[in-house]
Amino acid sequence: MMKINPSASPLYMLSCLVMLLLLPLPSLLAADPDPLQDFCVADLSASTSVNGFLCKPASNVSSDDFFFDGLSKEGNTTNVFGSRVTAANVLSFPGLNTLGSSINRVDFAPGGINPPHSHPRASETGVVISGQLLVGFVTTGNVYFSKVISAGQIFVIPRGLVHFQKNVGQEKALAFTSFNSQLPGADVLPLNLFASTPPIPNDVLTKAFQVGDDVVNSIKSKFGS
Ligand SMILES: *[C@@H]1O[C@H](CO)[C@@H](O)[C@H](O)[C@H]1NC(C)=O
Ligand SMILES: *[C@@H]1O[C@H](CO)[C@@H](O)[C@H](O)[C@H]1NC(C)=O
Repeated sequence: MMKINPSASPLYMLSCLVMLLLLPLPSLLAADPDPLQDFCVADLSASTSVNGFLCKPASNVSSDDFFFDGLSKEGNTTNVFGSRVTAANVLSFPGLNTLGSSINRVDFAPGGINPPHSHPRASETGVVISGQLLVGFVTTGNVYFSKVISAGQIFVIPRGLVHFQKNVGQEKALAFTSFNSQLPGADVLPLNLFASTPPIPNDVLTKAFQVGDDVVNSIKSKFGS
C-alpha cells in the first residue's frame, strides 16, 4: 500500500498557501500601526519627530489625558460651505496617539455642505444625530454611491475615496464621524486645487477642467487666492 506523505498532499499545500496569504493581513488592514504599549499620550512639544508623536512620561499622565470636551459645542457654520468640522484627532486630543482612532463633529447649516474631500489615512464611519444628510462618495472607477440618511442612521466611506455630505433638510444637521487613524488628514478638493500655497498654475487647471482662465480665476477668488 502506498504511503501518503502528508506534507505533499494538496490539502496541506493549500493550507500552507492560505497561511502565507493571511499572515501579513492584520498589518495590511490596520490604517495605523498597532500600539506597542497601553497608551502613549502625545508630547506635542517634543522636538524629536517620529511616525506619530513621542509619549509623555507615564508619571505625567492623568485622567484628563483620556477625555476631551472639544466636541460638545456647536461649530460655527457661517462660512462659504455652511458647515464646520471640529476634529478630535491626536493634535487636539493627544491621548489618541498610537491608538488608530479619532472622531469629528460636523455641524451643517440648512443647505450646507462638507465639500468633496478624501482622508488619505483612514476609512470613515459616521452617524447622523439630527437633520437629513445626503452622503455620497465616488470610487476610483468614477462610480457614485449615495443616500439621504437621518437621525440614528450611519454610513461608511472607504479609505481615501472622495466623498461629501450635504444638509438636504430644512433645519440644521449634526453628524459625528470616526476614523481608524489618529490623524486621518483631509484633502478638501476645492481648497487643494484652488487655494493651495503657492497656487497651482492656471494653465494646469484650465486644461484639467477644460475651462478658461476667467473660470479658474473666479473660483480662486472665492477662496481668497
Ligand atoms: C511633567 O510634569 C511636570 C510637572 O507638572 C512638568 O513640569 C513637565 O514639563 C512635564 N513633562 C512633560 C514631558 O510633559
Ligand atoms: C461665526 O463666524 C463668523 C464668520 O467668521 C463670525 O462673524 C461670527 O461672529 C461667528 N459667530 C460666533 C457665534 O462665534
